[in-house]
Amino acid sequence: MESVDIVTTKARCIKADRLHPVIVGRTLIKRISRCVSKYVAPATCAIISDSNVTPLFGNRVKKNLTAAGFRPALIIIPAGEKSKTFAQTGTICDRMIAAGLDRQSFVIGLGGGMIGDISGFAAAIYHRGIPHIQIPTTLLAMVDSSIGGKTGVDTRAGKNLIGAFHQPSLVIDDLDVLKTLPRREFNQGFAEIIKHAVIADAKMFQTLQSWKAGAATALQRLVKRNIEIKSKIVAKDERDLTGERALLNFGHTVGHAIERAGNYRKFLHGEAVSLGIVAASSISVKKAGLSADQRAAIVDLLERFGLPTRLPPTFPRKKILDTVNFDKKFAGGNVRFVVTPRIGAARITDDVTLDDIREAVKQL
Ligand SMILES: NC(=O)c1ccc[n+]([C@@H]2O[C@H](COP(=O)([O-])OP(=O)(O)OC[C@H]3O[C@@H](n4cnc5c(N)ncnc54)[C@H](O)[C@@H]3O)[C@@H](O)[C@H]2O)c1
Ligand SMILES: [Zn+2]
Repeated sequence: MESVDIVTTKARCIKADRLHPVIVGRTLIKRISRCVSKYVAPATCAIISDSNVTPLFGNRVKKNLTAAGFRPALIIIPAGEKSKTFAQTGTICDRMIAAGLDRQSFVIGLGGGMIGDISGFAAAIYHRGIPHIQIPTTLLAMVDSSIGGKTGVDTRAGKNLIGAFHQPSLVIDDLDVLKTLPRREFNQGFAEIIKHAVIADAKMFQTLQSWKAGAATALQRLVKRNIEIKSKIVAKDERDLTGERALLNFGHTVGHAIERAGNYRKFLHGEAVSLGIVAASSISVKKAGLSADQRAAIVDLLERFGLPTRLPPTFPRKKILDTVNFDKKFAGGNVRFVVTPRIGAARITDDVTLDDIREAVKQL
């Protein structure tokens, strides 16, 4: 089972067996070849990035690696979730073949979660699996999608239906890249951070309650702590089989349904999850003994980070229930719902009914 070894400074890079390092720091993009060379030999490689991120960091990463003796091919795909497809994966693999990547090669995913997922999937299937290095450029990707080894693409029938487990060999979180991230994109990362706090870390919840934007070292500590929380949960259930990893779905049953009901346009993933967290907290008051005060504290915290906690009055609420109902049938009649009995703890239950969810959505 893999877990993650966190290093916050370059000097403290430690490579242990079956652990993959995550470097969290600043100015790392500028010295990317030094970070990467510690873990992979100079080789032909692919940098997969999107059309927004490439002009910001893509050429810099390519130049830096080339100067250090790597032979990188920069593969750019259009920004946005629409690119996360099987067809796009095929195009990427064709380009990797054309660039001469072989079994000794590796793939760098430079971008947000979309790029992390598709580049990881390409790395998982290319020559039946070559190393994947993630350079996440969104807060969400740093604290969530780059950790845990889930890679994949969307199909018309649903998101992330095709994929592979493929742990990255190295993750490089350069906090400086977040400076260009639009505010809404930055804030949505906090939905997953607040989720981690609610399910696993009451102390981090308190830290967030007095969060001051712009505190550089505090952000570094926060990212590091979130990586620890997610990787610890993943390490117990890497393949998502025993239910432990499902705790990370807190707020996501309703969150996913809201995303879908809004045609993936109305809300960003983290925003939909914020609303899902509110619904899951209401259900937790009813079914798991969460206090009303703690529910209110969760709502306050989400609002503090500019995240939505109420649905617009005209939002098609019925569609949310239809999706939850569909997922429920898909899961064989049971909604495995994650509840929190108190901030800092979570468990899975199957005694949450569709009516409980309907009532919680009504209150949104
Ligand atoms: N594998 C997992 O465990 C996991 C977990 C959560 C989410 N995900 C996936 O992650 C994706 C969502 O991730 P995301 O929110 O990072 O989306 P994203 O990759 O689409 O990035 C959001 C937007 O920000 C832009 N961007 C990225 N970095 C930037 C920067 N530094 N400056 C300016 N703009 C920048 C992107 O071009 C894009 O337009 C979804 O596909 C989701 O399914 C995967
Ligand atoms: Zn999520």
